[in-house]
Amino acid sequence: MAELKGPDKQRYVSEMFARISGRYDLMNTLMTGGLHLRWKEKTAQLTTGGLTGKALDVATGTGDLAFSLARCPGIDGAVGVDLLPQMVSLAREKGRSKDLAHKVTFVLGDAHALPFPNDSFACATAGFSLRNMSNLDQALSEMVRVVRPGGRVSTLELTPMRPGRLSTLMRIYTQGLVPILGRLIARDRAAYTYLPQSVDHFIDAGTLAGRFQDLGLTGVSYRRLGFGAVTLHWGEKPKMELGSTSPATG
Ligand SMILES: C[S@@+](CC[C@H](N)C(=O)[O-])C[C@H]1O[C@@H](n2cnc3c(N)ncnc32)[C@H](O)[C@@H]1O
Repeated sequence: MAELKGPDKQRYVSEMFARISGRYDLMNTLMTGGLHLRWKEKTAQLTTGGLTGKALDVATGTGDLAFSLARCPGIDGAVGVDLLPQMVSLAREKGRSKDLAHKVTFVLGDAHALPFPNDSFACATAGFSLRNMSNLDQALSEMVRVVRPGGRVSTLELTPMRPGRLSTLMRIYTQGLVPILGRLIARDRAAYTYLPQSVDHFIDAGTLAGRFQDLGLTGVSYRRLGFGAVTLHWGEKPKMELGSTSPATG
């Protein structure tokens, strides 16, 4: 299923996340031993460093990254956007239980056509969602569009690992144990079989950094987390040159 493209991929992904939404958090915690929250915290800190204003989290799911963004210094609120009503309502519920509903709002929307004007956020993040996009470049360019010049775009994603002993161990884990956990906990083996396949079909970290650069982001870099299975990419939207209507290139 990971080889699906375009509208077929979008349909498959939407149905799958709708099915597993209720067990999504529990599965993330079990699969990563709770580390996913630490990675999201790191992403939020790196993304917001030195910036002030509002932050956006794209394909926010149950909202963890949006909550981390909202807690960062200088950030006066966060918006989480997701395609699925099931995820948005779980995120809103979590916001109320964390007493963060006044700082984080959740809205329905498609990452390929974000429902926000140009230059409206200090920064934008996307966690573990790029692999699921039917058009990766479109989703990335939408993040760049809604971030103001001088702002930052970051993504946290599972990317194919460099060949070696660690990648072999990870493969045994994700292809052997994760689908079993998915069947037992989420009652959905197919969804958790799709997960490792979607990583295999995704571009590697260096290629993803190239896509950031192709979109005009500057200072593009990435850091590997989670024994090399996860990468955090970031880049800045160039500031406008004085008297110019287009972003500076230098
Ligand atoms: C793997 S989850 C990641 C959720 C969250 N960002 C996290 O890190 O836990 C992928 C999310 O992407 C959402 N999604 C998939 N396609 C989308 C799209 N085209 N626009 C917005 N959200 C989308 C799904 O509903 C799901 O919540």
